[in-house]
Amino acid sequence: MNNPTSQVQKQDNLFIHPWDNFQNLGNNQRTVVEKGDGIYLYDSQGNRLIDGPSGMWCVNIGHGRKEMAQAIYDQVMQLPFTSPWSMATSPAAQFSEALAAEGPGDLNHAFLTTCGSTAVDSALRFVQFYNNYRGKPEKKKIISRLKGYHGSTYLSASVSGKERDKNYLDFATDLVHHIPAPHPLFKPEQMTDADFLDQCVADLENKIIELGADKVAVFVAEPILASGGVIVPPKGYHKRCLDVCHQYDVLYISDEVVTSFGRLGHIFASEAVFDIVPDIITTAKGLTSAYIPMGAFLVSDRLLNEFNNPDLESAIFSNGFTYSGHPVAAAAGLKNLEIIKREKLCENAREVGAYFQQRIKSLYDIPIVRDVRGLGLMACVECELTKGADDLEMDYEIGERIDQHCQAMGLIVRPLANMCVLSPPLIITKAQVDDLVDILYKGVELAMQDCIADGTFKSV
Ligand SMILES: Cc1ncc(COP(=O)(O)O)c(C=O)c1O
Repeated sequence: MNNPTSQVQKQDNLFIHPWDNFQNLGNNQRTVVEKGDGIYLYDSQGNRLIDGPSGMWCVNIGHGRKEMAQAIYDQVMQLPFTSPWSMATSPAAQFSEALAAEGPGDLNHAFLTTCGSTAVDSALRFVQFYNNYRGKPEKKKIISRLKGYHGSTYLSASVSGKERDKNYLDFATDLVHHIPAPHPLFKPEQMTDADFLDQCVADLENKIIELGADKVAVFVAEPILASGGVIVPPKGYHKRCLDVCHQYDVLYISDEVVTSFGRLGHIFASEAVFDIVPDIITTAKGLTSAYIPMGAFLVSDRLLNEFNNPDLESAIFSNGFTYSGHPVAAAAGLKNLEIIKREKLCENAREVGAYFQQRIKSLYDIPIVRDVRGLGLMACVECELTKGADDLEMDYEIGERIDQHCQAMGLIVRPLANMCVLSPPLIITKAQVDDLVDILYKGVELAMQDCIADGTFKSV
């Protein structure tokens, strides 16, 4: 039985949430979510809310799946756990085989982890291990992009590039170097698209040259910068960056923690959407549709085949987790993949995703909206209070206002400063997209009226 809302909120104040503001600890009154069904969440007041971000880009198959619950239950009853160090289990083995089959090119092995951060962290540690083994220990530097997000371990947080997340924390600044995000919104007006693409690719090449190719190990990039604000790079960007990487013997990690498992209409987007076969792909979130935590990195046979130096005694990768290849998580992953395929959710994401992108463009009619962008079932509406500002993040209050209005009308959005980021479950229908966009439209209009009333927005 559920506790009354106020009691849960009181107890919840003992839970230190991700990104909690410690000056506010003990004073939060978060919405208590009691139930999920399909694309909807239900709060403790009985309100039905469209789950606009599908949790955190992750409940891809939607909430309340009985067959998923059954698969998890069956595996718990069969075998909840055994050591991944020394034993094999059928779910982890089958899931690894399924991932290898889905991975592009020769990415035929999977290292299973507990979440996206540990997938990225382990992939980066694998790269260090790989270069040390092949006698290039000086090849250590990591290049990533500003506005990228890759996780919350020391190393994955260090490769993340969101300035607002850098408060009061330490990072591996000796190892990690950032280049600008390829953000078409900030392309100078007089610059052609081709020149902009050249500039974005040159940012990477120049950074490799500046640091010294013999010192640079890897480039890490999300296909679409997700929590940086759904930044879709110019066409051809990833392919050109991969070519640059290979030219300088730099590995390429495609961080598909968000973009995989149907979000962009394919199990993996790297090759299907962006025409690249990277050296490593990281994934999590939609991997199990968040029913159970899990992450993974897929790595190419080409790299693994290099671990065959007969002069060296061993090549033990001393990295892993108690829950690597957890049988229950692997069973959930297998069921998730089965549902995505059987229900043609990738196809739905492509078809309904195109409709979603078209419908959401209607928000351009609202004067406070500066940019509407996205691909598949990922979108971002970016607002501006200060016309033409370079750093729109300072307009962060607008996001909170939109969020409050939308939630009152039955939609959860995920305010990221001045941006509303949306990534609904892949089961969403066109009629539900209409509901979502209608509420969002009204929410943004109401937030704009608030800003006009208090004088923070003037240009209408
Ligand atoms: C692209 C990307 N990589 C890695 C992560 C980290 O994943 P997790 O929060 O599961 O550790 C995230 C989380 O949002 C992400 O968006």
